[in-house]
Amino acid sequence: MMESKVAIVTGGSSGMGLATAQELARRGYDLVLSSRKPEAAADQIRSSFGVRVEVVAGSIAEPDLAERLSAAAEGLGGATALLLNHGGPPVKPIMTLTDEDWSGAFEMMVTGPLRVMRMVVPQMQAAGGGRVLAISSFTVKQPFAGIGLSNALRAALVNALKTAALELGPQGILLNALGPGYVETNRIREWNESYARQQNAGIEDIRDRTLATIPLRRYGTPEGYARLAGFLLSDDNDYVSGQQILYDGGLVVAN
Ligand SMILES: NC(=O)c1ccc[n+]([C@@H]2O[C@H](COP(=O)([O-])OP(=O)(O)OC[C@H]3O[C@@H](n4cnc5c(N)ncnc54)[C@H](OP(=O)(O)O)[C@@H]3O)[C@@H](O)[C@H]2O)c1
Repeated sequence: MMESKVAIVTGGSSGMGLATAQELARRGYDLVLSSRKPEAAADQIRSSFGVRVEVVAGSIAEPDLAERLSAAAEGLGGATALLLNHGGPPVKPIMTLTDEDWSGAFEMMVTGPLRVMRMVVPQMQAAGGGRVLAISSFTVKQPFAGIGLSNALRAALVNALKTAALELGPQGILLNALGPGYVETNRIREWNESYARQQNAGIEDIRDRTLATIPLRRYGTPEGYARLAGFLLSDDNDYVSGQQILYDGGLVVAN
């Protein structure tokens, strides 16, 4: 049983990151909330849930962010839960991606999250255990045309976390990825707009085509995602580690 209830949430100012931060606050966690502009979300969580919320502003790609996050968590008593999240990379066909596109996205999606994990895991080791979860995507299991950066780099992070799950399991640290299918957030609206432009179609048309591919025929909700994320990040999860789980309405059934 982990005694301290302190969670770090990156990419926590909107969408699934914010909903997960709210779910953790509902479960009584004090928070370190981070994103490029986290202040408004932090105010909302403090006033709604009465937990302590420290703010660390910056991109997960910034080299000093990990150290700032870990210092803020230490000030609250040490992190036992970590949600790794950030925005999505540019939506571009693979033949148009430049070296700069790849290296920029790698910093945000692989180097940054792993740097944060490395800085924070020692606090979990000191506490006798912890939970790490990354927001990934169904496209790790079923790549999707037009989003090569996301398909490739999320797979890299997921396999790095699986490696960490093998190496850190003996110390009571459980690491997983939770991949959304289509979840109703700002990102999915931007995604639909990009696809509509690429395919010269209307946004409603793209939305209808997407819904037709989802067995439950609806988008997921940030709150539904957050309930599962909150479980995986807490003591309720006592035996799930090294997994990429999907919250996708049955979209991908292959292993
Ligand atoms: N929604 C879906 O259906 C879906 C499906 C598959 C994958 N995903 C992925 O899941 C993740 C979360 O998506 P969402 O739909 O919840 O998106 P969202 O509502 O756009 O939220 C993205 C969050 O990340 C923060 N952020 C953006 N760039 C960042 C950076 N460089 N460093 C740190 N934080 C950053 C944003 O806050 P600031 O602007 O304040 O930085 C915001 O809090 C994204 O990576 C997205 O691509 C989403």
